[in-house]
Amino acid sequence: MLESLSIEDIQQVTNSAAKSVIDLHGSMDKNSIDGAAVNAMRQALNQIAMAGTVVIGEGQKDNAPMLGSGEKVGTGIGIAVDIAVDPIDGTSLVAKGKTGAVSLIAFSPENTMFNPEDNFYMLKLVTGYEAATKISLSKPLLENLHIIAEAKSKKLHDLVVNVLRRPRHEKLGLELQALGIKVRFFDDGDVTAALVTCLPDSKVDAMIGIGGSPEAVIAAAGIIALGGNIQTQIVSRAHIESFTQDPLKVFNLPVLTKYDLIHSNNVLLSITGVSDNEIVNGLKRQGNEILSDTLIIGRLSHGPILLHI
Ligand code: FBP
Repeated sequence: MLESLSIEDIQQVTNSAAKSVIDLHGSMDKNSIDGAAVNAMRQALNQIAMAGTVVIGEGQKDNAPMLGSGEKVGTGIGIAVDIAVDPIDGTSLVAKGKTGAVSLIAFSPENTMFNPEDNFYMLKLVTGYEAATKISLSKPLLENLHIIAEAKSKKLHDLVVNVLRRPRHEKLGLELQALGIKVRFFDDGDVTAALVTCLPDSKVDAMIGIGGSPEAVIAAAGIIALGGNIQTQIVSRAHIESFTQDPLKVFNLPVLTKYDLIHSNNVLLSITGVSDNEIVNGLKRQGNEILSDTLIIGRLSHGPILLHI
């Protein structure tokens, strides 16, 4: 089980990927950013005593440098694990010198992670533990929002919802705002935007919208550990078009729950801040040193873990 992995080793993976891009902030060079982070991550992963298989290597969608799906990482000796990586979630943010970027890696036992393959986008609905067992994408979005509000003893207009800023979400934002719901648009990085809804005492009640499928699997690791829920549906270009026009409709598509994305309660996720964001602080220079902030979220046999390193 994942308890045989060292937390320090895991934090080192995202820590080194984040630090590898510190001089590339504002460089406008997305490929160099992805390349540096992928190389740093691969090097750190190969130091770990494990037989790791990368199930989700980020990069396919935009032809960026990637840790390929199926790639074997680790020393090859030790526990067999599935791995999902996003060396930099928010590459454009780093390229533009903006805040909000993180480095991410998720672990689960061998053969438990879903591989979305060439299905690049999913519709996602995420919320914390209060309404975790009650939400469902087979119900209308409005009904889900009422369920979340009721579970949190709030009025609909008290809800705060994270929405990825994209043209496909413009109408969604307007529809939510028309209900009095506070919409927090973010430019990139829907893993942190999803996870923040599940953190204790979060001020954000839900995340809704269409984002990357690899990011959904990575988020699922943290969401499982924190007791929240993510409901997803794989969407095609045509579905995205249709969502853009009518974001409150129900899609008659299979629903993938958090346990379809990761079929285990034994999960570990490491998030290092590249730049400041909702969950972790960004890298800071202090003299010759680079200070970093990593959040480890996990669930092991002795219970949940939530710790900053
Ligand atoms: P990358 O930094 O890996 O490109 O992803 C950033 C991101 O905002 C993800 O968090 C999100 O899931 C995805 O892009 C959305 O895709 P798109 O930018 O194509 O709308």
